[in-house]
Amino acid sequence: GKVRAPTHIISTISDDRGEEPCYAGVPMSSIVEQGYGVGDVISLLWFKRSLPRYCTHFIEICIMLCADHGPCVSGAHNTIVTARAGKDLVSSLVSGLLTIGPRFGGAIDDAARYFKDAYDRGLTPYEFVESMKKKGIRVPGIGHRIKRGDNRDKRVELLQQFAHTHFPSVKYMEYAVQVETYTLSKANNLVLNVDGAIGSLFLDLLAGSGMFSKQEIDEIVGIGYLNGLFVLARSIGLIGHTFDQKRLKQPLYRHPWEDVLYTKLVLCRGQVKR
Ligand code: ACO
Ligand code: LMR
Repeated sequence: GKVRAPTHIISTISDDRGEEPCYAGVPMSSIVEQGYGVGDVISLLWFKRSLPRYCTHFIEICIMLCADHGPCVSGAHNTIVTARAGKDLVSSLVSGLLTIGPRFGGAIDDAARYFKDAYDRGLTPYEFVESMKKKGIRVPGIGHRIKRGDNRDKRVELLQQFAHTHFPSVKYMEYAVQVETYTLSKANNLVLNVDGAIGSLFLDLLAGSGMFSKQEIDEIVGIGYLNGLFVLARSIGLIGHTFDQKRLKQPLYRHPWEDVLYTKLVLCRGQVKR
């Protein structure tokens, strides 16, 4: 009989061998003819299934709201400096993307992990936040450099409004809001940020859509798919910042001396002291 040689690669999301490429079994022509959007394509290539319209719309809203946040944030700053150093589009883009992480834009997965664990274990917001404090871990999805209790992040409000109207359940988001109420009682900058809003709402999307088993939800949260939303979204803005700097023919960036605190460092018993 036939002997099947072992393959070097296994792939389960797309196939370009036929007349037309398919995403998770859906041919390109159907994607175009049926008016699929970017949210549908993400559903097929990331989650390997078609999701209901309210889910794909939510994904698209996340992408649109996180596409940019001005020139001063970590990612855009890096991209601008890199573009002004004369580097190409890809270099400028990845220089910005490399700042995405636990403090900036890349806290979505951890927010989902910690909120899910705390909610599923029935921890009160007080128990959750204080247990994190004891472990010396900042609550992912909480806190912002400029947003405050009296100057909320509009993106968070828009995501919450959409979910309230369209999601069958927003239990994880409501839990995140209770956590925020508690953290705000401690300090005014400890708001639910856009990473925390997306992390908690995506848990609601996964659990409420009826499209994912419990095991699949654990896998998605465990692997960490959700930072991908910020990476994808912010690439749009970072590409824009690169073009902007090139268009404006901006010169090499050099940070002003006046904005640096030059201070003498002394080595004191093996420790660096100012
Ligand atoms: N959980 C608990 N306490 C916190 C948190 C948090 N998430 N954030 C700040 N604090 C408290 C801490 O007591 C901190 O003091 P410490 O430095 O002794 O730990 C104090 O507030 C002041 O913190 P700052 O460092 O001044 O806050 P900063 O404005 O620099 O940090 C940041 C903002 C990085 C977003 C921070 O709140 C944080 O790490 N949050 C968790 C990660 C996160 O969600 N990042 C995504 C932000 S949204 C985005 O990037 C699109
Ligand atoms: C962003 O989306 O880039 C911001 O929330 C981060 C910031 O520092 O404002």
